[in-house]
Amino acid sequence: MGKLILGVVLTLLVLLLGGLGFAMLGFFPTPANVSPPRLEQRIANAALDASMERHASRVTNPVPPTDQNLIDGMKIYTMNCALCHGGFNRQPASLAIALYPPPPNLISDPPDDPEWHIFYAIRTGIRYTGMPAWEKTLSQQDIWKVTALLSHLNKLPPAVQEYWKTSFGAAPPSGDEKKEGEGMKHDKD
Ligand code: HEC
Repeated sequence: MGKLILGVVLTLLVLLLGGLGFAMLGFFPTPANVSPPRLEQRIANAALDASMERHASRVTNPVPPTDQNLIDGMKIYTMNCALCHGGFNRQPASLAIALYPPPPNLISDPPDDPEWHIFYAIRTGIRYTGMPAWEKTLSQQDIWKVTALLSHLNKLPPAVQEYWKTSFGAAPPSGDEKKEGEGMKHDKD
């Protein structure tokens, strides 16, 4: 038994030192100008979902999806999120393919996660990606407004659709629109 434990500990130590050596000798690639390999994407997305399931509190959105709150959400999104996640004008986001991992296009492919999940992702950000922790710069109220907007994007009330059309010169989703995005597709299950 003692030998087995020693064996396990030694193996782990060798793996750890091997990994550290690999990194310190400069073998890990750092360029962000390539697409992440599929396997890496799958593992990272699964780990991200699992972590959010474990850490995010199941809170309900205190901000009701009124026309005004949704329009406020559009303004907050345009100023803070569109450059990475795509704007209401439906032009490709300027940073869509420049980041590693690439940000998903949230306008053509809005998240279908529950609001507590979306809120947590926006509030705390995503480590080792370009996704910032917005609680450092936006109020909770504003984060909830953007959350409401994203979760209602395919079922916006007529006044908000009208605002979208007149302000951004592009058509809002009709509701039954097929999802497509030019950024990374998030595996959703
Ligand atoms: C500098 C670029 C950048 C900006 C600005 C940015 N994001 Fe992100 N965001 C990312 C990246 C990159 C990811 C994908 C991370 C990954 O692959 O897991 C992401 C992921 C997300 C996700 C998906 C989370 C999940 O569970 O899969 C949501 C929702 C999101 N962002 C919302 C927002 C909102 C709302 C804003 C504005 C308040 C914003 N982002 C601003 C880069 C950005």
